[in-house]
Amino acid sequence: MTQDIHSILTEERKFVPPKAFTPRRIRSASQLESLRQSARSDLEGFWGKLAKTELDWQTPFSHVLDRQNAPHFRWFEDGNLNVSFNCLDRHLSTRGNKTAIIFEGEQGDTETLTYHTLYERVCRFANALKKQGVGKGDRVILYMPMIPEAVIAMQACARIGAIHSVVFGGFSAEALKDRIEDTKACCLITADGGHRGGKIIELKKTADRALELGGATVKNVIVFQRTGKTVPMISGRDHWWHEIVSDCDVACEPEWVNSEHPLFILYTSGSTGKPKGLQHSSGGYLLGATMTCQWVFDLDDSDIFWCTADVGWITGHTYVAYGPLSNGATIMMYEGAPTVPDGGRFWKICEKHRVTVFYTAPTAIRALMKLGDDVPNRYDLSSLRLLGTVGEPINPEAWMWYHRVIGQSRCPIVDTWWQTETGAIMASPIPGVTATKPGSCTQPLPGIDLDIVDSEGNSIQASDKGGYLVVRQPWPSMARTIWGDDQRYVDTYWSQFDGKYYVAGDSARRDSDGYFWIMGRLDDVLNVSGHRLGTMEIESALVAHPCVVEAAVVGFPHDIKGEGIHAFVVTKPSETQQDSDIVETLKQWVVEQIGAIARPDVIVLVDNLPKTRSGKIMRRLLRSIACKEKISQDTSTLENETILSQIRAAEPN
Ligand code: WT7
Repeated sequence: MTQDIHSILTEERKFVPPKAFTPRRIRSASQLESLRQSARSDLEGFWGKLAKTELDWQTPFSHVLDRQNAPHFRWFEDGNLNVSFNCLDRHLSTRGNKTAIIFEGEQGDTETLTYHTLYERVCRFANALKKQGVGKGDRVILYMPMIPEAVIAMQACARIGAIHSVVFGGFSAEALKDRIEDTKACCLITADGGHRGGKIIELKKTADRALELGGATVKNVIVFQRTGKTVPMISGRDHWWHEIVSDCDVACEPEWVNSEHPLFILYTSGSTGKPKGLQHSSGGYLLGATMTCQWVFDLDDSDIFWCTADVGWITGHTYVAYGPLSNGATIMMYEGAPTVPDGGRFWKICEKHRVTVFYTAPTAIRALMKLGDDVPNRYDLSSLRLLGTVGEPINPEAWMWYHRVIGQSRCPIVDTWWQTETGAIMASPIPGVTATKPGSCTQPLPGIDLDIVDSEGNSIQASDKGGYLVVRQPWPSMARTIWGDDQRYVDTYWSQFDGKYYVAGDSARRDSDGYFWIMGRLDDVLNVSGHRLGTMEIESALVAHPCVVEAAVVGFPHDIKGEGIHAFVVTKPSETQQDSDIVETLKQWVVEQIGAIARPDVIVLVDNLPKTRSGKIMRRLLRSIACKEKISQDTSTLENETILSQIRAAEPN
């Protein structure tokens, strides 16, 4: 497979750290090198020391890493701690009146919460959860807008040892039901709605629908009143957030849990089957979240950190709900879309709230770039000191715009590579220390043993040849397993090189400076707007429609989303005749099955799909067609070669 991977990117620009940026955490190349060196010479000593100094333990651990049950590694196993204590209580004496969260709603309403207020609200809500019968180890589903209560609910779960699973508010009832059923959650926390794109997202309505479809384990639904719109409440099952907290105490003793106690489950797409629920730990995860905020974002007490990700994604977990709070920083939270009321909203927020560190995705950068320089130029962006990006390879053009127009050539850019599975950033420049190149995540962080290997597992050094991106040693914030499916975890991530390496599923290459360039996914996973979607999932959704016989889904380059979704669909003529706009019907159907994020950009109706003689759909051929490329692959294994010209003829121009 790897011989097919050839790099087409030849980016030669290199930017030395801007003089205007004075790093506070890792201050020099020699300090960075000595951290790397100490991790290389004693991995356990390195992480053990940080875990002791950077986290507060109720019972200290005596043992750093247990490899016995590899690849289900265990970190700081015999230590007890509480994640919410580390994010809140430990700051109260020194930062009680410091702002923890600055919130702005899409309609312009704002709210500021100090660490003390946040602590009280978390405790109150934790007590309310307990009163609903939620306890240690129970699973709680969150289906919330981007409002402080989302963070409060996550922290409250952590406080009582309940395991949260946040489902992105853009997912459909069907997707929500699947996640409830996979986790067997006893409680669902949602809101009457949220504001996004000038509309109200009716979360409660979708949650009700999900519970009609299934999810029988849910006994209680807690509803936060955000929009004030009337929603039906089922007596005995549904409870208003404000009512159940009203008589709750503002103190709640944290539940001390083992370091390995699951903190959360978060679903992500794979190439086959249902989404995987990645299970993350308490101690190791929090250490990764805490350290990367210092190393990569250079966070200290003076910062206002804005990570624009929704809490429904891993980025929103690590860099909204946990990492910055563990460090006692101030976070910015914004509820809505970047284009409401216009494309200047992000920059207006940066100006108004004096944001210092801004972290977003290439898809957002590209979309805002298209609106022109005039829009950001209207705002005072002088508070910004550091910019970050995550989610997909950033194209050099977008990088340069971000650097020049948003960072005003003054702010370093950290291009951070990581995944839902890795829990925290794995490779990134160190701001003010590492010279950057547009499109490269540069080098692994201290303690992260990243490598690029060929199909035999041999390291590939500087070359234009790509290989498998792997991690050779465990790290504290790694996922522990797939919830309820240990075997799938082993098969998916550890089987390729016989358990020796964690296989990320990305291809990458290394340049002559030893910089890493991520080239994209190796499996049938699309990266749409920085989020993973399995082609299988979309295909299954399409095939579930009564009109559809067969479907194949591939990605194609998309200006803003990175990758667009292109479906080839074989329909049943008898059923289809009754629907004059079957293509639109099917697009809407996918939205209902999975969510708006999975809406196909193009659906082409075909009579047949190209298959090998053994019946496998030849997706590579379809990808060439969708990308409007010449077919260079061997088509001799194709069962029916004339099919290709038929499909091409059906393509939109
Ligand atoms: C996949 C992980 C980690 C939070 C966001 C996405 C791609 C992520 C980068 C980057 C190139 C990147 C990879 C990875 N990716 N960051 N800086 N450069 N590619 O999390 O949904 O778990 O997706 O996103 O392909 O495997 P995710």
